Amino acid sequence: MIQQLQEATDFIRSKTNQYQPDFGVVLGTGLGALVQDISIQHSLDYADIPHFPVSTVESHSGKLIFGELGGRNVVVMQGRFHYYEGYSMDQVVFPIRVMKLLGVKKLFVSNAAGGLDPEYNTSDLMVITDHINLQPANPLIGKNIDELGPRFPDMSEPYSQHLVQQALDIANQHNLNVRTGVYVSVPGPMLETIAEYKYLRTIGADAVGMSTVPEVIAAVHMNLPVFAVSVITDLCVPGKIKKVVLLDILEAAAKAEPNMTLLIKELIKRQG
Ligand code: HPA
Repeated sequence: MIQQLQEATDFIRSKTNQYQPDFGVVLGTGLGALVQDISIQHSLDYADIPHFPVSTVESHSGKLIFGELGGRNVVVMQGRFHYYEGYSMDQVVFPIRVMKLLGVKKLFVSNAAGGLDPEYNTSDLMVITDHINLQPANPLIGKNIDELGPRFPDMSEPYSQHLVQQALDIANQHNLNVRTGVYVSVPGPMLETIAEYKYLRTIGADAVGMSTVPEVIAAVHMNLPVFAVSVITDLCVPGKIKKVVLLDILEAAAKAEPNMTLLIKELIKRQG
């Protein structure tokens, strides 16, 4: 594994003129427009990078983009890998590990999620303060990769409190209505039954989605501080539940995109 990570990292360095990104960004479903705010220096197709999984979901385009965002050097994953696509957890988090080897100091993650808190509306932003992992596997199972991190990583602060606070300050300054809450990660790909939504609410979640937590676990393992934000694309509260179609999710994500882009860009601008 470590050798594959190293080969991918060396390849990327050779193709990007040794470009040094300081921050990593993962763009979720329907949230690719942040890329328009980047002055792009290099762009690599996942398919060209050794050992990189290739994206199969149509709403994800599969590029690693290097450039400047908010005056900082970033590497952006346009399109991520989900466990439900059939990838192993090692594959799902492969790019996150590569970003760390490339030298990023913080990770910024976005996703589309269903809202479980009855106060939420579609296209709201929820800054993730904690998570519940209901994925059937996780990327740390198996022999520990000591070069990356410890066998038993601490999970008392998977989302940097400092970054959460900075994000809330930015939201305040820009009059963005931002929520904070707990994200639960489920395997999917089917959406939840009404009974499952009630269960997820009961166990303490405010939003539900099919990604992010494996990546966050891999990042925490490597001691990489994380900021993550969900765009609420549908409401999973009894009485408000509608049949969900991907088009509606993409539409709600598109509506929230300017706010999410502003939040992440301003937050990255503030990092030293
Ligand atoms: N459930 C799970 N994942 C999701 C949802 C949902 O309601 N909306 C967007 N991603």
